[in-house]
Amino acid sequence: MYFPAYRPRRLRKNETLRRMVRETKVSADDFIYPLFVTHGRRVRKEIRSMPGIAQLSIDLAVKEAKEVFQLGVPAVILFGIPKRKDLRGSEAYARSGIIQQAIRAIKDKIPELAVITDVCLCEYTSHGHCGMVIQGQVDNDATLKLLAKMSLSHAEAGADIVAPSDMMDGRVQAIREALDQSGFEDIPIMSYAAKHASGFYGPFREAAESTPQFGDRRSYQMDPANAREAMREVWLDVQEGADIIMVKPALPYLDIIRAVREEFNIPVGAYNVSGEYAMIKAAAQRGWLEEERVMMEVLTAIKRAGADLILTYFAKDAARLLGRQ
Ligand code: PBG
Repeated sequence: MYFPAYRPRRLRKNETLRRMVRETKVSADDFIYPLFVTHGRRVRKEIRSMPGIAQLSIDLAVKEAKEVFQLGVPAVILFGIPKRKDLRGSEAYARSGIIQQAIRAIKDKIPELAVITDVCLCEYTSHGHCGMVIQGQVDNDATLKLLAKMSLSHAEAGADIVAPSDMMDGRVQAIREALDQSGFEDIPIMSYAAKHASGFYGPFREAAESTPQFGDRRSYQMDPANAREAMREVWLDVQEGADIIMVKPALPYLDIIRAVREEFNIPVGAYNVSGEYAMIKAAAQRGWLEEERVMMEVLTAIKRAGADLILTYFAKDAARLLGRQ
């Protein structure tokens, strides 16, 4: 059937018809909202390169989490800014660490909100790398023990899901074993499985104060050019026991989201990262883009590519907009 018998425009005639044949629908259920938690009380430290996002002390993070939940967003992911950084990232797995305190405070006030924790040492180490540095190198196996310890301390504080983002080999297995040995066999792992060494993390490093003090992350994060390797990374994490796998960043890696979706029957997350957010905010501030429209277009594209969950700084704005429609 072809023109004039078939006219695709017939079903685009008005919003009702378009609504009926729409293939991809984004909902607040899909979102995970990142929160940056810092020490102190009534602290709200805006992130210059991420308008609308701030480091929050626990009291304000709890308020924010409540708002997120009321907007229909089911989960937050927490990043912590420690009081002190050291070579072993000690605060990452301290019972009194910023994240451990934040988890307890949020779960106490909003028990139904899923609290996911980012498991990585970069915010906590003095050198800013995601693992233990031994003789100038990020040591894989020494790091695994610390990541397992960190995950366990998050679970003990009441985290619902742990999300390792360090990209060390074998971390999912190490974390799974540590959780299982301590009676946390029901805590899921959402692994940042295909995480690329990306320039789009720039604003996040300001937000989390986690810029590496020497070198870069290319010896552990993936080369942006590699898609087949992304499949091996995902396969490994699935074998090691990941419950949800993630592709990161999202927008420049839609092909990888799609490929992972087709190959694996496991929930797929995508991280719409800080740089993707900053670009839209910056262009919108200058009047160069319509913010709400491109925000929804991007989130729809990520879902259309195959993501089930979207980690996004737009979660609140998008949920609010969806609530109005
Ligand atoms: C920690 C981590 C990073 C992000 C999430 N977890 C930064 C990095 O790897 O340098 C980036 C998130 C974003 O840019 O929004 N390893």
